Amino acid sequence: MKKLLLTLAVAATSWGVQAADTAYVFQAGHPSLKEFILGPVPHPDDNKPNADRILLGQKLFFDPRMSGDGNMSCATCHNPALGWSDGLPTARGVKSSVLGRASPTVFNTAYNSIQMWDGRKKSLEDQAMGPMQANVEMNMDIGKLFSWIKSNEGYKTLFAKAYPGEPISESTLSRAIAAYERTVISDNSPFDRWLKGDAKAMTAQQVDGFKVFVGKGNCTACHSGANLTDNGFHNVGLASWGKAEPDMGRYGIRPVAALKGAFKTPTVREAARTGPFFHDGSAITLMDVVEHYDRGGDVKTNLSANIKPLNLSKTEKEALVAFMEGLSSPFIVASIPELPLK
Ligand code: HEC
Ligand code: HEC
Repeated sequence: MKKLLLTLAVAATSWGVQAADTAYVFQAGHPSLKEFILGPVPHPDDNKPNADRILLGQKLFFDPRMSGDGNMSCATCHNPALGWSDGLPTARGVKSSVLGRASPTVFNTAYNSIQMWDGRKKSLEDQAMGPMQANVEMNMDIGKLFSWIKSNEGYKTLFAKAYPGEPISESTLSRAIAAYERTVISDNSPFDRWLKGDAKAMTAQQVDGFKVFVGKGNCTACHSGANLTDNGFHNVGLASWGKAEPDMGRYGIRPVAALKGAFKTPTVREAARTGPFFHDGSAITLMDVVEHYDRGGDVKTNLSANIKPLNLSKTEKEALVAFMEGLSSPFIVASIPELPLK
């Protein structure tokens, strides 16, 4: 064990060196450690962040007056204390109605090249107006929304500072929310610190779990790259896919047979905080997720070719769970910002 740790320590500190990478990766074809290091947060050209934009976006994100009943904000379903999700199997919308899909985390959505379980939104800017207008979610009349924001002196000042010379509109409102969401980043987990050379940041069990993640578990076939997602769509054979009228997922947006029941690969970063898991919330714990993959999924129709029985040992499963627990950054208390009352 000592020898193994030593090899890993060397590899982790010198990840930039090809030879060390090969020594670490143990097997040809495994991704190099470098691939897992998150780069700078990307920002679109027409929405470069600054303190005024982020502050405005933060207030809007937490403001329940954005909903028709005045009792629901983005943070209701993307709660910072619950991993920027809601802790529910599937979301609760207007009048506590149970919605069909789970609330994904906002953590690292900045790095997504496509948004939503079915990829129906291209960017965070595109996404932001959706929930307010959706009658099952925040159920807000857009005319009413803009008339109260425009009559609120506090917001008028905030918008003028954030987007000088531009009107208060769907465009400025969604850009502000998106600029704020891009500050919700997880890049300081034990895994990140380990990647950057702190050999002690992960436990030996977590390192073993990482080996299963890239190796026998085949997880990086889809949870690839630094944000641990390929931004692609796959059918992982959930039991709900076998229902009479299942959620068709990506197929509903792009009617290509291979996409029936396929959903976007979510990041696994912060997973220890964002359960229940999968779009239908059917896995309660990370071990449930691992067991699902280990048995090669439940429903085989249109199943991704990358989902096969894994025959993982109990030790390997526990290591995989431990590794995923090493993907949480230090908890940051997010306090609700002061909202402009008039
Ligand atoms: C009623 C709960 C609820 C509210 C309120 C809500 N969301 Fe969501 N959010 C969801 C659900 C559920 C999804 C996934 C829906 C789908 O993919 O079909 C989602 C998806 C997202 C995504 C895509 C994440 C990804 O990884 O694809 C972002 C970003 C997001 N919401 C931001 C917001 C913002 C901003 C607001 C406020 C304007 C908001 N949400 C309000 C439940 C909610
Ligand atoms: C074929 C591609 C693929 C492979 C291989 C794969 N995943 Fe996934 N993973 C996905 C997709 C797609 C989802 C979402 C599926 C859904 O909800 O319908 C997902 C969901 C998850 C989730 C839930 C995240 C959340 O926020 O709900 C976790 C955790 C996870 N995978 C871990 C793993 C682990 C660990 C492995 C390896 C044992 C693995 N995955 C292998 C594609 C894959």
